[in-house]
Amino acid sequence: MSLQTKWDAIYSQREGEATAATVLIENQHLLPSSGNALDLACGMGGNAKLLAKSGLDVVAWDLSSVAIARLQLEAKNQKLAIDAQVQDVIDNPPEAQSLDVLVVSFFLDRELCATLIDALKPGGVLFYQTHCRDKVSQTGPSNPDYLLADNELLSLFSGLKLRVYREESVLGDHQQGFRNQAFLVAEK
Ligand SMILES: C[S@@+](CC[C@H](N)C(=O)[O-])C[C@H]1O[C@@H](n2cnc3c(N)ncnc32)[C@H](O)[C@@H]1O
Repeated sequence: MSLQTKWDAIYSQREGEATAATVLIENQHLLPSSGNALDLACGMGGNAKLLAKSGLDVVAWDLSSVAIARLQLEAKNQKLAIDAQVQDVIDNPPEAQSLDVLVVSFFLDRELCATLIDALKPGGVLFYQTHCRDKVSQTGPSNPDYLLADNELLSLFSGLKLRVYREESVLGDHQQGFRNQAFLVAEK
């Protein structure tokens, strides 16, 4: 089964609307007041919708035509200016110095990270959030290729200026805090 077929099947079954990732919700005050933004591997575009509501010119790319069709319909119904396109982000990544804002949530391809840094304009901002290997509960993928090692986001994006970072690993009271994931906001 191709990756696209797999994700199309998942989105065909999914109910409800997508919401933005915590990294974007909690740090949306760090967005510029204007400019362009990309929601990369957007799924049903929870991040793209928040970015569009913030007044940015938004492009959203995903491999799944089902997810993109659902986002296009929702954007039309909500009158949100989102250019949602089926695009393989590995084969066709964003161009160098093309973006004011880049958001990536729950997608990890380590070899793409240098290209993502290049894709930001000077002063551009990256919002990144995904699952970690060190978890307090068995949520998210189990394949370590799709899980961040301890502090790995910091090394993957060390070429950027760090503005916000959160990763609590297995420290302290596991019933509290932001667990199983890490997020970063960084500026070029
Ligand atoms: C776990 S989902 C996350 C979706 C969304 N970012 C979110 O936070 O809800 C991973 C997404 O990556 C997409 N994806 C996987 N490989 C891709 C590729 N090479 N190019 C574009 N999208 C891809 C899948 O179709 C899926 O929508």
